Amino acid sequence: MIRTEITGTGSYMPEKILTNKDLEKMVDTSDEWITKRTGIKERHIAAKDEASSDLAVKASRQAINDAGIDKNEIDAIICATITPDMLFPATACQIQKKIGIKEVAAFDVESACTGFLTALTIADSMIVSGNYKKVLVIASEVLSRITDWEDRQSCVLFGDGAGAAILSSTDKDRGIMSTYLGSDGRYGNLLHLPAGGSKMPASEDTVEGGLHYIKMEGRESFKIAVKKMAVSARTALKKAGITIDDIKMVIPHQANMRIINALAKMLKIDIERVFINIKDYGNMSAATTAVGLDQTLKSSKVSTGEIIQLVAFGGGLTWGSVIVKI
Ligand code: ACO
Repeated sequence: MIRTEITGTGSYMPEKILTNKDLEKMVDTSDEWITKRTGIKERHIAAKDEASSDLAVKASRQAINDAGIDKNEIDAIICATITPDMLFPATACQIQKKIGIKEVAAFDVESACTGFLTALTIADSMIVSGNYKKVLVIASEVLSRITDWEDRQSCVLFGDGAGAAILSSTDKDRGIMSTYLGSDGRYGNLLHLPAGGSKMPASEDTVEGGLHYIKMEGRESFKIAVKKMAVSARTALKKAGITIDDIKMVIPHQANMRIINALAKMLKIDIERVFINIKDYGNMSAATTAVGLDQTLKSSKVSTGEIIQLVAFGGGLTWGSVIVKI
């Protein structure tokens, strides 16, 4: 039976750090409010000449080295992002060009903070079908470019970064055990970027109105996030035929420390078994779980043969979970 194992990971966060103290000088906020209400202390911000593909290339090279493969063994590239270099061509094609990978399938997926789990799910299906052997899955975001730096409710939350993984075909008893994805388009307005698409093309008015920035109904998104992340985790556990006690580490999306605490409580899992890096990076949308995966696998928190669970929630609204035996 063909399975999909994760054979290498990487991540990259831009050098520049923006602290809560820095934000105090930009909007009417305080380090105390941000820390208490979100758990975030700082976030990384891309340099002016860094686009999503640039962050992605650095994370991907690490993942390729970590997997110990030649770049030309990769037979598909999937990039999850809501901040592509441009609307088209796909950022995955830009990554392919910059790394110098031969002619292979390359495309982007967009399901906001759930994007990395969506990309893992697609890659898993491609590998299990027998048609692909090694897929480079990336999540890369430069959210600072679509953040309204005058909106104190949202600008304190986001950061830039990228994570990547090499998924490989295996016949061993390890790798992806189950995947689950869900969405409800009726909640699209809770988290969206109104302008720049075919519905509302860029114009002087859209720029004037700040409609190229993230718009978020924080409180409403919060409530649904907790509920849907718990549903996602439970559904993926059921599909894998295991319980939360079998999971060594849960890697949740890092939107708000209070969401992570509430999820741990609902799943009845000790917070020690939940991966947390929100303090240092904030919410990097799709890149968050990709970076979390890399940092978890390279830590002493898990070892070969143990099971980890990724859980995410984001714009769409979308949600999902992936369970992996490492
Ligand atoms: N600094 C100081 N005060 C603030 C700030 C700030 N940065 N932001 C809001 N406030 C104020 C509000 O104005 C309000 O003041 P008022 O009571 O005088 O009206 C008060 O703080 C409380 O505001 P709330 O919006 O109720 O604050 P809340 O506790 O809900 O926290 C937050 C806001 C952090 C945005 C939270 O709702 C949240 O994390 N939501 C979830 C976001 C999320 O999960 N998004 C999905 C993933 S993102 C993606 O997919 C790209």
